[in-house]
Amino acid sequence: MKGVILAGGLGSRLRPLTLVTNKHLLPVYDRPMIYYPIQCMLNAGIDEIMVVTGGEHAGDFLKLLKNGKHLGVRELRYGYQEGEGGIADALKLAEDFADGGKICVILGDNIIEGNIKKAAADFFTQKSGAKIILKEVPDPQRFGVVEFDSNQRIKTLIEKPKNPPSNMAVTGIYFYDGDCFKVCQSLKPSGRGELEITDVNNYYLRRGDLTHETLDGWWTDAGTFESLHRASKFVAESGANHMDLAGARPGLFGGGVRG
Ligand code: G1P
Repeated sequence: MKGVILAGGLGSRLRPLTLVTNKHLLPVYDRPMIYYPIQCMLNAGIDEIMVVTGGEHAGDFLKLLKNGKHLGVRELRYGYQEGEGGIADALKLAEDFADGGKICVILGDNIIEGNIKKAAADFFTQKSGAKIILKEVPDPQRFGVVEFDSNQRIKTLIEKPKNPPSNMAVTGIYFYDGDCFKVCQSLKPSGRGELEITDVNNYYLRRGDLTHETLDGWWTDAGTFESLHRASKFVAESGANHMDLAGARPGLFGGGVRG
């Protein structure tokens, strides 16, 4: 399975920091934000990765990630999103890279304590469709949120609801079959003028082909000053173990013990 990291957007909530670089290259404790989703994929055995970015600072990714070999990435591809069309619009750029196969998609500002090994293995054996990863949060109105029916099955997914029907957020970690690109092509922009990944997930739900798992350990995004600070704090407080975030090969990103 290949991996796609979506790392575009203006990062306007993090100005002035994002006037000089892309949000996903800002530091989270001791390394650039984008290292975390890369490491998360590598931990799950995904080493063919496409990074989709955009904006004025796209060149900074090349300076940092180069061809990815020093990070353990076997094949690193880049995509450039014109404009601000949203997550599902950025995903369209990965169609050729995916080549009809299944993909794991991670939003570049999502950081987790645990790993997605089991979810990736489960999706590998899932015949078709999509899988989402859920996490209970105190502030669901900031995310895509699950509405459950009386049998605790997912009834629908709602993007940033004012009155969230549950505390179960949809994290920015998704698994899709090759149909996701056709779905992205068919979407209409939402109220915020973007193609929403939640609409892609609702398509699979209606098709009866959406599975989900709940994430163990902490999860955070890092797109606001508050969540960026929280992300650094979580990582720092994970202590020496965070070198091995999610069970990666020790020293993967720097070759040694932190001094
Ligand atoms: C996006 C998705 C949302 C998801 C979140 C996870 O939100 O639209 O459904 O819960 O990522 O980080 P955004 O980052 O655009 O606010």
